[in-house]
Amino acid sequence: MDLQVVPLHKYPQYSMQCCQLINEEWKRSVTARMRSLECSCDVLPTCLILLKDKKVIGHCKLSLIPSICDACFIESVVIDKSLRGKGYGSYLMTKAEEYCKNALNLKTIYLSTKGQELFYSKLGYDKCQPISIYGSSSIVNFPMYHVHHTTKNKKQIGNENNSPIPPPMPKTTLVCTEITSKVYMKKEL
Ligand SMILES: CC(C)(COP(=O)(O)OP(=O)(O)OC[C@H]1O[C@@H](n2cnc3c(N)ncnc32)[C@H](O)[C@@H]1OP(=O)(O)O)[C@@H](O)C(=O)NCCC(=O)NCCS
Repeated sequence: MDLQVVPLHKYPQYSMQCCQLINEEWKRSVTARMRSLECSCDVLPTCLILLKDKKVIGHCKLSLIPSICDACFIESVVIDKSLRGKGYGSYLMTKAEEYCKNALNLKTIYLSTKGQELFYSKLGYDKCQPISIYGSSSIVNFPMYHVHHTTKNKKQIGNENNSPIPPPMPKTTLVCTEITSKVYMKKEL
């Protein structure tokens, strides 16, 4: 069987097939998806595709973590619906890890998942603290923490200084739910 994992930007002729594969799992406009795929490059972000007999059957994206220079965040891992459960996902992940280690000289891979923990743990990923893939701090800033503390502080400020109570913070409960329901995992390469 002819199986290959290659960077998408070296094989741009597969971009539309790749776009369709990802969009079958996570619906998004073709324009937005193609724009995101066009960002793939030799440094991060890099989109890797799994080709079987010259057809795109898998994809994953390696993204930069600004606060951790020798690591990346793997996301949008997907295998063609009709070919799942046959070892292709494991093959793609193993090749992606080799790429991270040998081509990008990275030491750690992070990811977050909702429901695929077993798939990743079989590949050697362990649960870890949530990390932020935005900004300079690697620690995720939990919004609930702020909601709780600002409510307390509001009363104190009003009482001690007799100053007007500031307007309420924007509602952040939804964001918090989303962050906490994801499981973060990592693997040392
Ligand atoms: C997750 C996904 C990439 C796995 O790919 P796959 O080709 O089906 O996985 P494999 O066949 O290589 O499975 C490897 C092992 O993980 C197990 N596994 C795969 N998906 C699993 C799941 N959702 N839950 C539990 N175990 C799972 C398999 O049973 C297999 O176990 P085994 O080695 O003991 O037989 C694929 O199911 C997929 O594209 N899912 C939809 C998109 C998605 O959720 N991506 C992950 C985003 S975090």
